[in-house]
Amino acid sequence: MSDVIEIAATTTLLSTRGLSVHYGGVTANADIDLTVDAGEIVGLIGPNGAGKTTFVDAVTGFAKSSGEVRLDGERVDRIAANRRRTAGMARTWQAGELFADLTVAQNLAVAVQRVGLRALISDVFTGSRPPAGIIDEALAMVGLLGVADRRPGELTLGQQKLVGVARALVGGTRLVLLDEPAAGLDTHESREFGAELRRIAATGVGILLIDHDMSLVLDVCDRLYVLDFGRVIAAGSPTEIQDDPAVVAAYLGSPEVQADSLDDGSAAERSAAERSATERSATDGPADEPGGGAR
Ligand SMILES: Nc1ncnc2c1ncn2[C@@H]1O[C@H](COP(=O)(O)OP(=O)(O)OP(=O)(O)O)[C@@H](O)[C@H]1O
Ligand SMILES: [Mg+2]
Repeated sequence: MSDVIEIAATTTLLSTRGLSVHYGGVTANADIDLTVDAGEIVGLIGPNGAGKTTFVDAVTGFAKSSGEVRLDGERVDRIAANRRRTAGMARTWQAGELFADLTVAQNLAVAVQRVGLRALISDVFTGSRPPAGIIDEALAMVGLLGVADRRPGELTLGQQKLVGVARALVGGTRLVLLDEPAAGLDTHESREFGAELRRIAATGVGILLIDHDMSLVLDVCDRLYVLDFGRVIAAGSPTEIQDDPAVVAAYLGSPEVQADSLDDGSAAERSAAERSATERSATDGPADEPGGGAR
């Protein structure tokens, strides 16, 4: 492939410049410059409390931030969360759960119902609901079209996690930000989940993936950013990240620790939790999920 074609084929879907978020005295995000291209899976990793969820909150309009956020070149940092969603960016929530009493298709439908009084009144009179086509399209993207009428309890955990992703893909989403979407999956399920993410990215969707499962992120991501105390401390390919002494130090608290220890996500998480307990206790605010699944 010639250089010309390669340049023409790359669309930067998400780009942030100097994105910062402050919670009282805590700098949760500091000057973050990050990009995600169409068709790319970009990992965002870092110890507990590093600012990963905050970054997703800021990009999608759920946290007050300064700096620039662009979606496909257009500034979106001054528009409300629902308008950013309509413009083509969507997120999942760290503890995002499905409605157990609704079918898979209904779980997707409620995620795209319009909000606001005017929409409510017009929906009552017109009986309007999201067209089945866009629900089916999102389910097909995650390979779950066949279970549209089942309830979440009838699905495997891996399938339930994919419904969570499909919910964010509904309505022509071009950029999706996934906050620990594979939490709770075992190694095999996690690998399958990763393969599904690759298929989604192959359709041209840009994916920002947050996860503590190191084998998943190193396996599935094209590039990674590492956050620590709200700052990007490293960025690059999975190989570059694994060998970066600053990353090893951030995760394990000591530069002497071997880089291949990063393969053990649980150890990294444990070490980070111990670190945050000792280093952050003086400054931490509440770590609640803003919005708690509301849209
Ligand atoms: N709504 C909030 N109000 C005040 N402080 C907050 C709020 N949300 C997050 N923080 C603080 O911002 C920092 C970053 O938190 P954040 O939840 O973004 O980290 P994280 O990298 O997603 O962690 P985890 O891996 O545990 O999910 C932490 O110090 C946290 O206590
Ligand atoms: Mg988080």
